[in-house]
Amino acid sequence: MGIEFNLEGKIALVTGASSGLGNRFAKVLAKAGAQVVLASRRVERLKELRAEIEAGGGAAHVVALDVTDYASIKSAIAHAETEAGPIDILVNNSGVSTTQRLIDVTPEDYAFVMDTNQRGAFFVAQETAKRMIARAKGDPGKQHRIINIASVAGLRVLPQIGIYCVSKAAVVHMTKSMAVEWGRYGINVNAICPGYIKTEINESHFDSEQGQQLINMLPRKRLGEPEDLDGLLLLLAADESRFMNGAIITADDGMAAY
Ligand SMILES: NC(=O)c1ccc[n+]([C@@H]2O[C@H](COP(=O)([O-])OP(=O)(O)OC[C@H]3O[C@@H](n4cnc5c(N)ncnc54)[C@H](OP(=O)(O)O)[C@@H]3O)[C@@H](O)[C@H]2O)c1
Repeated sequence: MGIEFNLEGKIALVTGASSGLGNRFAKVLAKAGAQVVLASRRVERLKELRAEIEAGGGAAHVVALDVTDYASIKSAIAHAETEAGPIDILVNNSGVSTTQRLIDVTPEDYAFVMDTNQRGAFFVAQETAKRMIARAKGDPGKQHRIINIASVAGLRVLPQIGIYCVSKAAVVHMTKSMAVEWGRYGINVNAICPGYIKTEINESHFDSEQGQQLINMLPRKRLGEPEDLDGLLLLLAADESRFMNGAIITADDGMAAY
């Protein structure tokens, strides 16, 4: 018997859909039948992705979003629901990183990472949840999903990216707090903690000699591909994961276990 996750009739908002993991998440959700709303600052890239999804028979919308700007979050989510309809699934994925030792972190570095990864992720989830909660009150059986993209760096300390680790540890704990408060409204809040996957956030590092050394220290001496998260993403997005709430799940090729 084959089982596949069917997201037909669902509306999914993916933040940070303009590159890397978010781009893949949007394609996978669309392939499973969801209507996807693509959100980030680089709108031209989102339009290209929309065209690609539509060419494959899927449905996609584009919304400009800067997660460091509270007004932008509010207007983007309102825009998403006007364009596509009520959001069933949020993939809270936008993120940035910097590379330096903690001793060298400036207030600007700190704000850059925290305003996006922690504050931004919090208010995107909160704004979406307000709407989900309002709908749940009229329809207690309704299922909603929030999938926070944390990192293995939120579970263990990785070299040179200490402030990023702090921001992702906050996302891990935020996921549990949200699960506890919002579970009663049918919102399941879970986190994916990916290991190293080569994308724009880290490609220059992995192309360097230091980056190559780091790859050699990984359990299987390899990086992941964005598609390595497909199965976990689909599970957490689908109704079949209704008993999963507050779960922090690694997809890291064994990094956190090491
Ligand atoms: N790649 C990895 O190894 C890895 C491992 C663990 C966790 N992660 C996490 O996975 C998520 C995606 O990262 P990635 O690897 O796909 O990196 P990426 O290719 O650099 O993508 C980051 C995305 O975040 C968006 N973004 C950044 N600042 C934003 C802002 N102020 N407002 C809205 N969107 C913003 C970017 O879009 P715009 O520039 O268009 O706004 C971009 O689409 C991040 O949260 C990252 O921390 C990645």
